Amino acid sequence: MSLFNVYPLFDITPIFAKDVFVYDKNNTKYLDLYGGHAVISIGHSHPTYISSITNQLQKIGFYSNSVQNPLQEKLAQKLIQLSNCKNYELFLCNSGAEANENALKLASFHTQKKGVLAFKNSFHGRTSAAVAATDNAKIIAPINAQQKVNFIELGDLEAAENILKQGNTCAVIIECIQGVGGLDESTTLFYQGLEILCKKYNSLLIADEVQAGFGRTGDFFSFQKHLITPDIISMAKGMGNGFPIGGILIHPKIKASYGLLGTTFGGNHLACSASLAVLNIIEKEQLMQHVTKISEYFLAEAKKLPKLKNTKGRGLMLGLEFDFPVAELRKKLIYKHHIFTGSAANPNVLRILPPLTITKQHIKQLFEALKKEIHE
Ligand SMILES: Cc1ncc(COP(=O)(O)O)c(C=O)c1O
Repeated sequence: MSLFNVYPLFDITPIFAKDVFVYDKNNTKYLDLYGGHAVISIGHSHPTYISSITNQLQKIGFYSNSVQNPLQEKLAQKLIQLSNCKNYELFLCNSGAEANENALKLASFHTQKKGVLAFKNSFHGRTSAAVAATDNAKIIAPINAQQKVNFIELGDLEAAENILKQGNTCAVIIECIQGVGGLDESTTLFYQGLEILCKKYNSLLIADEVQAGFGRTGDFFSFQKHLITPDIISMAKGMGNGFPIGGILIHPKIKASYGLLGTTFGGNHLACSASLAVLNIIEKEQLMQHVTKISEYFLAEAKKLPKLKNTKGRGLMLGLEFDFPVAELRKKLIYKHHIFTGSAANPNVLRILPPLTITKQHIKQLFEALKKEIHE
């Protein structure tokens, strides 16, 4: 049986990984500045992470959500401590799309409304409501197109108010820094204005932190720079460092009731132990502080690059915008220099989403390779 062919694959087969490096079947060593698409937070195969999951597996790997699981409580407490998002409640699931799906569903239950306001260039996942709120017609099937979603420009408060005042929007869903879309971010004034509008027109504000969360920007969540308080915060990617786990933080004004949300696998013992290890390592190794410092170094070095139009993003959620399409450059980085990077909807943007443990030496390696290729 062949695989359903939906991914254009690079011809590389990783079989081993350690911290910021991935090794293929020929033992070629690749510098991972892509982090498996912003998933690797604490570095590949961190020993504490491995022992946490292994120890848990030797006790119990899974049981259903119909019994007590103290690891979920422990994870909730640690999340509150590190994120400083006090008073929220936690619901666990398995992926980013699922987190957004639950967030949108909850907003609809809470407000008893159906419409969603989303932003041009947004990406929120590939399932029902999440994909409908994603600005990419190619991945929206007719069955998803039944959802009522309005898309406006990021930063356009007037357009937001024009939609919200019609009174049928259950949620505004936003990535404070757009990931797939190409690292655009609006102003604090805009995010705070949006929060005010949501309150005024009884819509919930959902911060999609699936990619930007868990310390990637140097803050625990990217919205925190703008001093807003979203009603729901969705998380995934860096949360499990590769172990599938997602979740939403829910403001206490949204009331739980039995059966409102549910999942078979979400919040299982292994996933919780993976995410707890991630949080403990972020804390112990002071990775958020490290991200802020190393990001400054990256941005200073980037300024020395020829043909660079712009740098985008924050922390280790970065983009290098050139004055030419980067697809060929990206291939050369992989096959010639053995460096993984990411792409964006904007063809001129090279995305940098490394493990949060990268050091100056790794950044130097990237810029040396880039200078060589740009000169050629
Ligand atoms: C901002 C954002 N939201 C949601 C998702 C969907 O996450 P998943 O692929 O885990 O369903 C992604 C994935 O890239 C994302 O970047």
